Amino acid sequence: MGELETTKLETPSRQAPDSLMLYGFWYRALPGAQVPRNRLHKAMLLEMPLVIGRDRQGKAFALRDACPHRGMPLSCGRFDGQNLECSYHGWKFDAHSGQCQLIPSLTSDQELKVDRIYAGSYPCEENDGYVWVFVPEPPSSGAGFTKSVEPSFPAPRVPIFDGKYKIAHLTADLPCSVDHGIIGLMDPAHGPFVHQAWWWRSRHSIHEKQKNFEPIPMGFRMSAHTPSSNSAPYKLLRLYADADSITTTIDFVLPNMRLETIRAGKYWFSSLTTVTPITRNHCRIDVVACWNIFRWVPFGPGLLKFVFAKFVEQDRQTMENQSEGLKHNPHLMLIDDADRPAKWYFQLKAAYLESRRKGAEMRHPMNGPVTLKWRS
Ligand code: FES
Ligand SMILES: [Fe+2]
Repeated sequence: MGELETTKLETPSRQAPDSLMLYGFWYRALPGAQVPRNRLHKAMLLEMPLVIGRDRQGKAFALRDACPHRGMPLSCGRFDGQNLECSYHGWKFDAHSGQCQLIPSLTSDQELKVDRIYAGSYPCEENDGYVWVFVPEPPSSGAGFTKSVEPSFPAPRVPIFDGKYKIAHLTADLPCSVDHGIIGLMDPAHGPFVHQAWWWRSRHSIHEKQKNFEPIPMGFRMSAHTPSSNSAPYKLLRLYADADSITTTIDFVLPNMRLETIRAGKYWFSSLTTVTPITRNHCRIDVVACWNIFRWVPFGPGLLKFVFAKFVEQDRQTMENQSEGLKHNPHLMLIDDADRPAKWYFQLKAAYLESRRKGAEMRHPMNGPVTLKWRS
């Protein structure tokens, strides 16, 4: 397979990301801390306005921010801890199910079945400090009369390896489509040019790398390996953990998740990064990291967060500049091998959409392990 692919090198494939959004998945809507009990919060997800809040018990809910009567944003209404009342004609909806409870204008002899009317509602879960919302395929018809869909799988969470750990969050808005956000996140070749810092690495340390990848359900994995020796923090970690080896696993899983796990002896670091489509040309990157490394060293968590924040800020700044270049739809290309993960992403996405269209099982674009080589 590797040999066959090289023929494409002569004419690098020109590819403009299509920025189609994927339905039928859980997405991080916003940090739970932004949703106090007594206030309604607006959020945008896959070009869909939502109103998010908490009931009296503190359980989060998400409704489409448009009344099924005449479209008034429900976020303009009043919430009593259980029902949401629209500000226009006072229709009341159950915050979790979206089911209509009351239409004040009805007289006692009018027989409209109030409980058959629904405001759009979405399943909600709270994991790792985020409110996750399940976004189903948009209903083809019957808007205003459809109940919410029950997802068949739970919202994702950061993998944890023992009871005591630190957790940190990072968020950045990216002025680009979700596709550019994701391929930027998985791009191995930008490191030496974007992420330079004296304490991390310099661009002169660029060297040839070889990494093994394998298919996993809905994604691919960069297989466990001892990280490259050209970064000081890894050298430090190996010394500190007194471990023979450090293994790193990086998974990409549709629709938008990058999971990274580092293990050195009894120490571990684990993160779940998502790139969430807000609108067609705006996305948000959210990183949640957990670790037991340096847990008791007072400056440890701060230091780790500092390093992470610096990386994310460098990526954000880069994508902000890139969005200038993308404004007028230039032709783009993806080259082997450094952009192969990006190609897999587009192929996975296409395969998923195809399987949805046909109602058939998804065909994975990779048929076995692959070794990629690049310089970074
Ligand atoms: S628009 Fe909401 S009650 Fe009429
Ligand atoms: Fe980066």
